[in-house]
Amino acid sequence: MKFFLDTANIDEIKRISKLGLVDGVTTNPSIIAKEGRNFEEVIKEICSIVEGPVSAEVIGLKATEMIKEGREIAKWAPNVIVKIPMTEEGLEAVYTLEAENIKTNVTLVFSVAQGLMAAKAGASFISPFVGRIDDIGEDGMKLIKNLRQTLVNYEFKSEIITASIRTIGHLEQAAIAGADIATIPGSLLPKLWKHPLTDNGIEQFLNDWKSVTDKENN
Ligand code: E4P
Repeated sequence: MKFFLDTANIDEIKRISKLGLVDGVTTNPSIIAKEGRNFEEVIKEICSIVEGPVSAEVIGLKATEMIKEGREIAKWAPNVIVKIPMTEEGLEAVYTLEAENIKTNVTLVFSVAQGLMAAKAGASFISPFVGRIDDIGEDGMKLIKNLRQTLVNYEFKSEIITASIRTIGHLEQAAIAGADIATIPGSLLPKLWKHPLTDNGIEQFLNDWKSVTDKENN
């Protein structure tokens, strides 16, 4: 399973890259706005740090606007991916850009039908938002399982990015369901490797070891 970071924070990307956990990065306009920096500048900087795919989202809503923006964004770096919202106009943009060998990531996917349309249009990546589905009282993870099965049934090449991840359970269930990628927000990262029993164990081992060295020194 590949891990993407769902952030545009350079310090965070550099820190987590040292752990070998960063296969790519996803951003969206809200994530970029949080950094208070120029869009093009921050995407170019991320692309220079991370070897894998880095998603940068278009703002236009018309196909012609998305295609124009997508062609421009694609010039920024070889590993940049054009992120496009799941609309009829978006599908047209995906179909056009992918035909020009510009990779796309279809975002804001909330149903198997939407995921299937994105795959048919030729999207390289599809991003179902599990957390936002859970927020409205439905089961986000069911979408990952069903979309995975749908893509397998017809041998579509699109990769599923499990997005809007809020909990460790989301990540674990995405892995079990066979999602290709999980994009993880910075706030969840420490919880992935921290466990109270690990901390207790370290403390106990160090205390026991101290009693050995104390005896030797007396
Ligand atoms: C990633 O591609 C999405 O933009 C992101 O995961 C959305 O997460 P949110 O629902 O927590 O905003």
